[in-house]
Amino acid sequence: MRIALIGFGSVGRGIAEAIVHKNLDLTVSGVADSKSGIIDPAGIDMRAVLERKRETGMCGEEGISAMEIITSADYDLLIEVTPTDARTGEPALGYITAALRRGKHVVTSNKGPIACAYHALRTLADEHGVQLRYEATVCGAIPIMQALENGLAGNDIRGIYGVFNGTCNYILTRMADERLTYQQALLEARELGYAEADPTYDVKGIDAAIKLVILANTVWGLSTTLDDVDTTGIDAVTSDALELAEGQDCTIRLIGEIVPGKEILRVSPRIIPKSHTLVVSGTLNAVMVDTDMAGKVTFIGKGAGSSETASAIISDVLFIRDHHVKRT
Ligand SMILES: NC(=O)c1ccc[n+]([C@@H]2O[C@H](COP(=O)([O-])OP(=O)(O)OC[C@H]3O[C@@H](n4cnc5c(N)ncnc54)[C@H](OP(=O)(O)O)[C@@H]3O)[C@@H](O)[C@H]2O)c1
Repeated sequence: MRIALIGFGSVGRGIAEAIVHKNLDLTVSGVADSKSGIIDPAGIDMRAVLERKRETGMCGEEGISAMEIITSADYDLLIEVTPTDARTGEPALGYITAALRRGKHVVTSNKGPIACAYHALRTLADEHGVQLRYEATVCGAIPIMQALENGLAGNDIRGIYGVFNGTCNYILTRMADERLTYQQALLEARELGYAEADPTYDVKGIDAAIKLVILANTVWGLSTTLDDVDTTGIDAVTSDALELAEGQDCTIRLIGEIVPGKEILRVSPRIIPKSHTLVVSGTLNAVMVDTDMAGKVTFIGKGAGSSETASAIISDVLFIRDHHVKRT
């Protein structure tokens, strides 16, 4: 199967490393970052691309754009791993739309286009008989989409609850464990590379809310947007509040909840017992799915990281290769 890989940052490089070091039987025929691109129908040497990116900051040649690769190169599946814009979904939305219109399968880690335009993209994929998969958009390495689609098939999903943002979880863990203030814990998270220079998306609960929108729209077929999520971040959580929770053998976690039957779609800091399955430490994510037959099933794992996110992408790619691409 031939791949076009658009975006060569942390996740794109993680995917390239996996392709280099594992025998995945994938041929990459196009690669692009924001400034350069490379096309070779015979297959690109990904080891050389990784080296060039490291040395020059560019994966290919100036003058070859991502859109040119998407609209004219020879490939079966687009891997789209460019930055997220939660309000417009661009530029990823345009890239994904163009690939689907050409009848190409799409795998993305980008929450923007899935949260903004899921139903339109799904319709386009169905019309062209191709797959659109986005495991990496929710909880990184945790295979939650696969579990909901396959492992828990036949169950009625009553609700989904979880810790969807590793940065917030890290900050709250450090505030509780080391009695740091919110500002001290945020500074530490920044120094360790867990928080962006502008942490607004994370600490205001927006990143977790986007993930709820993706789950609500794809699991229950709803048409929710970011504005429908009742969202409160962790930036007003104080050390005193954590200490008070501690006194009751509880702690505070930023919990995302979807319970369509009760019209709950909410992200908020919650006081929960320390023994609760959703109380995970550091940057971990946790998702609990409440079902009618299987009961409550909880998944815990890394929600971000280069190889962790690449793991989710590769799993989607191999799923499509093994189930939807005719071997010649
Ligand atoms: N990192 C994680 O752990 C993680 C986890 C889950 C989901 N995600 C999502 O995965 C996506 C990629 O994340 P990342 O951490 O790899 O981001 P990143 O390190 O910022 O890399 C983004 C890549 O996209 C390229 N790019 C930027 N604008 C572009 C454009 N208009 N056209 C083509 N390429 C463009 C950048 O080019 P340059 O190299 O030239 O700057 C860079 O190679 C994001 O949507 C993110 O939210 C990331």
